[in-house]
Order: sequence, then C-alpha cells, then structure tokens
Amino acid sequence: MFAFVSLLALTGLVSAVDFGASGPEWSTVKSAILAKSEQGSVQLKAFAAAVDPPTPEGFTLTFGPLNASNNAPGFMGFVLLDSYDTAGCASLCNARDFDSVGGLCQFFNIYQGLTSANKTTFTCSLYYLPTDNSTATNPGDATVSISASRGYRRTSAVPDGSFETFACTPPALTCSIASFNGWVGTSDNATVLDTAAISHDPALAHFGSGSISLGSISGKTNASGTETFKVATTVKGRNYALGLFHSNTLRNPTNASLGIVSVVWNGVIVDTITGAQNWTFHGYTLTAAGNDTLAFHGGKFPAFDFIDDVFLFLL
Ligand SMILES: *[C@@H]1O[C@H](CO)[C@@H](O)[C@H](O)[C@H]1NC(C)=O
Ligand SMILES: *[C@@H]1O[C@H](CO)[C@@H](O)[C@H](O)[C@H]1NC(C)=O
Ligand SMILES: *[C@@H]1O[C@H](CO)[C@@H](O)[C@H](O)[C@H]1NC(C)=O
Ligand SMILES: *[C@@H]1O[C@H](CO)[C@@H](O)[C@H](O)[C@H]1NC(C)=O
Ligand SMILES: *[C@@H]1O[C@H](CO)[C@@H](O)[C@H](O)[C@H]1NC(C)=O
Ligand SMILES: *[C@@H]1O[C@H](CO)[C@@H](O)[C@H](O)[C@H]1NC(C)=O
Ligand SMILES: *[C@@H]1O[C@H](CO)[C@@H](O)[C@H](O)[C@H]1NC(C)=O
Ligand SMILES: *[C@@H]1O[C@H](CO)[C@@H](O)[C@H](O)[C@H]1NC(C)=O
Repeated sequence: MFAFVSLLALTGLVSAVDFGASGPEWSTVKSAILAKSEQGSVQLKAFAAAVDPPTPEGFTLTFGPLNASNNAPGFMGFVLLDSYDTAGCASLCNARDFDSVGGLCQFFNIYQGLTSANKTTFTCSLYYLPTDNSTATNPGDATVSISASRGYRRTSAVPDGSFETFACTPPALTCSIASFNGWVGTSDNATVLDTAAISHDPALAHFGSGSISLGSISGKTNASGTETFKVATTVKGRNYALGLFHSNTLRNPTNASLGIVSVVWNGVIVDTITGAQNWTFHGYTLTAAGNDTLAFHGGKFPAFDFIDDVFLFLL
C-alpha cells in the first residue's frame, strides 16, 4: 500500500535513537561529522556562503541562515551530504519511510559543520513535526561549529489537516461541528446529521486537540458519515503522498472491531480500513487530476472512527 522504501539501507541514514521530545542526539551527529571529515576519500566541496540556496519544490524556507541547528521533537534521523544540497535533503525527506508514531517527514534542517581541523561537512536532519528558529539552539561546540543552518517546511495541499484551528466557544472544553475550514460533513442517514464531524477533544486526537470523528455522536443511527475536502492546489499529473492516522478505540473500544473507514480519492475507494486499531499510520501514493476530492467515509455506531494528521505532500 505504501510505496516508499526505507532509506535506512539505501543511504546510510542514521536513525533517531529517541523518537520522543528530546530532539537530535547531537553527540551521535557530531561523531558522524568527525568520522566523515576524516575520510580522505570523500571530496568535501567548498561552500559558497554568500549564495542563497534554491528552495526545493514543495517546501518553504522557515528560517536561516543561522549559526545553530535545530534541537526539536520529531527527529527522524540524519544524513551527511557531500555538499550543501537543499534539493538532495528535500528528496531524502520525501523518500523517508514513515515513522509509526509521527508519520511522514515534514521538515528538514540543513547546516554546515566546521570541524576544529578546518574540515567542512553538511548535515541533513529530518523531522516529522515542523519546527522553526525557536528550536535552532545548538551552536555546536569546540570540535564542530555550526553555520548556514536553514529550516524548510514541507507544504501540505490539505491545509490544517491536524484540525488544530477548530476551537470551542468557552466555557466548553470539547465540541464538534459537521463542516469546518473546507471540510464538509454529510450523513448516510438524512435525518441524523451527526455521523461526521470535526471534533475538538484532546482525548480523541492523535496530536493536539482536533480530529475527524465518524459515527453518530447521539447514537441515533448506525449509518456512516463522510468528511469531504476539495483540494485546491494539486497539480494535474503529479504524484502526492497522502498520510493519515486512524484509531477506532477511543470511544466504545469494545465495539471498535465494527469500525470501517474508506479513504476515497476523486470518488474512487483507495483503501478500506477495518478492525480494531489504536492510532495507526496509513500512507498512499496518489496521482492528482487537479481540483481533487479527498473523502473519508465511515463510522458505524456503536463504533466510532477517528482520523487525524492528514497530509498531502507533493512527491
Ligand atoms: C554567523 O557567524 C558568522 C561568522 O562568525 C557571522 O559573520 C554571522 O553574522 C553569524 N550569523 C548569525 C545569524 O549570527
Ligand atoms: C581554514 O580554511 C579556510 C578556507 O579554506 C582558510 O581560509 C583558513 O585559513 C583555514 N584556517 C585554518 C586555521 O587552517
Ligand atoms: C525567528 O523568526 C521570527 C519569525 O520569522 C522572526 O521574527 C525572529 O526575528 C526570528 N528570530 C531569530 C533569532 O532569528
Ligand atoms: C435514520 O435515523 C432515524 C432516526 O432519526 C432512524 O429511525 C432510522 O432507523 C435511521 N436509519 C438508518 C438506516 O440507520
Ligand atoms: C442498523 O440499523 C438499522 C435500522 O435501525 C437496522 O435494521 C440494522 O440491523 C442495523 N445494522 C446493524 C449492523 O446493526
Ligand atoms: C458493543 O459492545 C457491547 C459491549 O461489549 C456489546 O454488548 C454490544 O453488543 C456491542 N454492539 C454491537 C452492535 O456489536
Ligand atoms: C490499544 O492500546 C491499549 C493500551 O495499550 C491496548 O490495551 C489495546 O489492546 C490496544 N488495542 C488494539 C486494537 O490494538
Ligand atoms: C479547477 O477548478 C477551477 C474552478 O472551477 C478551474 O478554473 C480550473 O481550471 C480547474 N483546474 C483543473 C486542473 O481542472
């Protein structure tokens, strides 16, 4: 189903030791930098610091150049490049196999590491959570100093697929709405419309507070609901990576095995997810026709399906 190969075998990608909030293991990166700088066979190219590098297609420059690298949550590993190659680092992010906790690569940090022996190295670090200059806090140390550090964020054709901009009217702490921010909720039962919703409830979200909820909230029908999004920015003929997380064990876990969700692209079912499942990543490679329609159809009271962190990235 998910077409991307793991880069671990292909490029010597060094995997993250810790997928939690502690960020890159600088000592691991530094050891790799020092080892690489000592390889006589590797021709390290001179760096033209004055030239702004091209911003890779599908990415946006978030910060830089700064003299500090990121130390941020969601680290997916790093690769030492032979040059300050922003397009190469973007390709590694695009091809990076998903992380089971965080999903697709969403951000990279590229920087120059200058060793005390005056050797130049180039690091490409990958993250499944976007970050910015606020976490560019690692200047390096006496053996490797960091410069020309830039951060690039991958642009999703589905804006706000984390549903974090949906907020409740105080004093409510949790709430839901059928349609929001381009997502349109519809029901298979014309008289019960609460089968598809955007929900604000941290207990029902993968990350943060927002998610899609499918299944009648009032319990008045076992009919399914659909959340549909019209994608405005897809380019006809181009391939996209769709990534999402799904769970049906958050409400009525004993009925979770009744859960069923279809992932629908331009009216065609590309996958049907069945069976009890905690938050699990699902990824697909899709071809755009332009003005594409993405939809999730599912929920079957007393089973509820939740979908979160929906990203559609140009490949
Ligand atoms: C980075 O360091 C160089 C060399 O010391 C300095 O010229 C430059 O201003 C620094 N850049 C930033 C953003 O601090
Ligand atoms: C380090 O390399 C730069 C560029 O090649 C050179 O200008 C500089 O003199 C070198 N510094 C030392 C301490 O070798
Ligand atoms: C960080 O980025 C913000 C927004 O782009 C900018 O206003 C701020 O000056 C930056 N801070 C540093 C230290 O570069
Ligand atoms: C649709 O909802 C009504 C309640 O408004 C219920 O009586 C009916 O059985 C439901 N139909 C289906 C197919 O679930
Ligand atoms: C769903 O509800 C309808 C109408 O209430 C009922 O006839 C049907 O048996 C239910 N289906 C399941 C799978 O529970
Ligand atoms: C939902 O789970 C409860 C508790 O296990 C069970 O009694 C009930 O039959 C289940 N409902 C359906 C429709 O399977
Ligand atoms: C979901 O996670 C809970 C807690 O770890 C576990 O007890 C349960 O078996 C898991 N359910 C499924 C369907 O994997
Ligand atoms: C998308 O829809 C807009 C407005 O309906 C139309 O102008 C445009 O040509 C369409 N693009 C494609 C690639 O079909």
